[in-house]
Amino acid sequence: MIIDILTLFPESFSYLSSSIMKRAQETEKIDINIHDIRQFSQDKHKKCDDYPFGGGAGMLMTAQPIYDAVKSVRKENSKIIFPSPVGKMLTPEIAKNLSKENHLIFICGHYEGVDQRIIDLLKPEEISIGDYVLTGGELPTMVIVDCLARFIDGVITQESLSEESFSCGNLEYPQYTRPQIFEGLEVPEVLLSGNHQEIAKWRKEQSIKRTKDKRPDLI
Ligand code: ADE
Repeated sequence: MIIDILTLFPESFSYLSSSIMKRAQETEKIDINIHDIRQFSQDKHKKCDDYPFGGGAGMLMTAQPIYDAVKSVRKENSKIIFPSPVGKMLTPEIAKNLSKENHLIFICGHYEGVDQRIIDLLKPEEISIGDYVLTGGELPTMVIVDCLARFIDGVITQESLSEESFSCGNLEYPQYTRPQIFEGLEVPEVLLSGNHQEIAKWRKEQSIKRTKDKRPDLI
């Protein structure tokens, strides 16, 4: 999978060069390229924003640099994503479907947004990461990329994927590691028993209890 990210703030993306996302790239499961939209501006000062026609607060990203940046990376099979609070809400199903694409292009809006003609011309899939407004599309892009990467074969183990929250409709059970006692709190005895059947039963019960307590809306 190739991912091209178009942004005015390439330096925001260092997160994708660490930990699991770093390994996913080193092992060639995923190839992420960050492109600076400003480099595509035809303005002599490389300006990429302007005042909205009709007035209103803040600045908008102009269409030309974004349009040319997309043209420079677009292939026949590319899917274009525009993270936006007006998009459909990100779900594990959406992330899983995106993970099956060959080429994704993310356009990161910033300031008050982008000129509507970018949406009308390029018809990107608009995806929201929640009902709140962020200052730009950079964080949502990283959220979506991180979420879909976990569905790509070999990025994380199949076991982690099938046991995690939401994979079977419930939240994941609580987990513990060493030491056995921390600040007086002990690891549940069953986890130390070596009895795999009992451990699986306990985890299932905990998973249901946790979902009822914390996210009754999922039941
Ligand atoms: N850009 C700004 N806010 C956003 C959100 N909630 N989801 C996706 N993109 C955004």
